[in-house]
Amino acid sequence: MRNLAQSSLPARAATGLAKGATLSSRRSAAASFLSLVLVGVLALFITSCSGKDPQDTLSSVGEVAKKQQELFWIIFAWAALVFVLVQGLLLFILFRFRRRSENEMPAQTHGNTRLEIAWTLAPVVILVSVAIPTVASIFDLAKEHDVSMQVKVIGHQWWWEFQYPGLGVVTANELHLPVGEVVAFDLQSADVIHSFWVPKLAGKQDVVPGRSNPLTIKVDEPGTFLGQCAELCGIQHAQMKFRVVVQEKAQFDQWVKDQRTPVQPPGDPAMVKGSLIVQQKCSACHTIQGLAGAVGKVGPTLTHIGGRGTIAAGVLNNTPENLARWIRDPQEVKRGALMPNLGLTEDEIQAVVPYLLSLK
Ligand code: CUA
Repeated sequence: MRNLAQSSLPARAATGLAKGATLSSRRSAAASFLSLVLVGVLALFITSCSGKDPQDTLSSVGEVAKKQQELFWIIFAWAALVFVLVQGLLLFILFRFRRRSENEMPAQTHGNTRLEIAWTLAPVVILVSVAIPTVASIFDLAKEHDVSMQVKVIGHQWWWEFQYPGLGVVTANELHLPVGEVVAFDLQSADVIHSFWVPKLAGKQDVVPGRSNPLTIKVDEPGTFLGQCAELCGIQHAQMKFRVVVQEKAQFDQWVKDQRTPVQPPGDPAMVKGSLIVQQKCSACHTIQGLAGAVGKVGPTLTHIGGRGTIAAGVLNNTPENLARWIRDPQEVKRGALMPNLGLTEDEIQAVVPYLLSLK
């Protein structure tokens, strides 16, 4: 058996300290603890005050995201109820049954059948109330009704490939969708596990190598929505971003038409120089439809790169300066990216950039 006196030494020391401490020092300790809690709560409120919310799951736009949000609020309400009840009871009991004198002995109770039945049944009722809408939502969201378009998403370290099999379009990092139509996604990975997430449009869905995961999205209003890989997938996981551009049907059809048009051979001699360098240096990894030999599949298609808003999977805005910076030293922009430094001279870079940006 352990030596009781020895094992409770720290406890006894603490009691002694507490007894020795003056009332005012205990009060000031309590006050500083309270102010610490207050600062924490304030910090929490301030951080939640951001006006711009491009990735706010609680301002959902799509049908799928709305259903998920409804479910979130149901579960949150139950959790809040449990929290208030448990904490309220705890506070009440702490206060009501506190020790009032040194040698007071509380009433000894051995079991209470009614209480035990109550606290067994209450969680059952709560869990069933959570399970019914949860399971119903799972089946509801798994249904692919009135699908008007299929999009195959392929996650790569660290960019997104979007294929529209029915439309003959392949693009990268910028997904275009028609407003109000149900789009069925087929999520696949080229390497490791990623997660496809557009917070305002639909909850996360894992993108797993060797698997094909479904997800449907229907967006109610046009706009640009930010997406994000949501599964740690390597050093540039945080920089595996994408955008979803939701357009009216006519605009979307125009975009499809533009995407399907192969690039034209350049007439301008400066552009010809750029296209030749791209053919030599870039075509092993990148596809450019219409440019002979540019059929690489390692990196994203560059067929209409000039029409995209960002480069390097959402890391940089697509400007001539940024594109030059990316080509000059990809590792400086995105360490670990598979895009190698091709050692182009400044002269070559200045020829390649305008050519690529002309591919709209
Ligand atoms: Cu892909 Cu994280």
